[in-house]
Amino acid sequence: MHQHRKVWGRKVARPLKINQKRLLDEELPKLQLFADFGKKLDLTQLMPGFESYILEIGFGGGEHLAWRAQQSSSQGFIGCEPFITGVAGLLGYIEDYELDNVRIVIDDARVLLQSLPDASLDRIFILFPDPWHKKRHHKRRIVSDETIGELSRVLKKGGELMMATDIQDYADWMVDVLSRRSEFTAMLDGRQSVYERPHPWLVTRYEQKGIDAGRKPSYLLYRKND
Ligand SMILES: C[S@@+](CC[C@H](N)C(=O)[O-])C[C@H]1O[C@@H](n2cnc3c(N)ncnc32)[C@H](O)[C@@H]1O
Repeated sequence: MHQHRKVWGRKVARPLKINQKRLLDEELPKLQLFADFGKKLDLTQLMPGFESYILEIGFGGGEHLAWRAQQSSSQGFIGCEPFITGVAGLLGYIEDYELDNVRIVIDDARVLLQSLPDASLDRIFILFPDPWHKKRHHKRRIVSDETIGELSRVLKKGGELMMATDIQDYADWMVDVLSRRSEFTAMLDGRQSVYERPHPWLVTRYEQKGIDAGRKPSYLLYRKND
């Protein structure tokens, strides 16, 4: 039994198309992992044979995750996204690219993080997370003093936390959160946050929309110390 939990934001935007429904009915059950409070997910058992495990939190349409997974077949990728239309998008890429190294968790990343064992991931991507502009909503931000302990716990020593945002206030906030943690080192030439896009990179539709609207993305890469 998987209990229903409140996830902020939208879950379904518009009615699903026939192909999206097919992907969710037929392909999702083969790839879905379930997170639950109090029970740890052993990735090496659930998706055995990979040399390392990568998590993307809030993968949106799934194009970045699918692109990374296509490039690194020896790595296992876990995508976490509560928005069902995005999940259908990722399933479409998985089918088109014939990927067998991706699993999907449809849930709030906070629940997934609590369900992952210590030092189980080599890399975490959090790209353009919802900014929650209003001050009273800042506690909903997925990068926060509340979540950074869990993000750190599930990362291996030497593991990386890659973040991006096109909201300057959130970039500054991320730097503040990370600066308070002695176990992380800023990697991009020691700079906490940069405007130059790291390489290699895939610009998602969401990132491109922001650029077209005049927003300037910041990129942040931290390594967990040995
Ligand atoms: C602004 S979009 C960015 C999507 C994608 N990362 C990109 O760059 O194209 C933020 C995404 O995070 C997801 N999200 C929001 N809250 C979340 C949470 N608590 N856990 C996991 N994903 C979440 C949203 O559903 C949305 O798809």
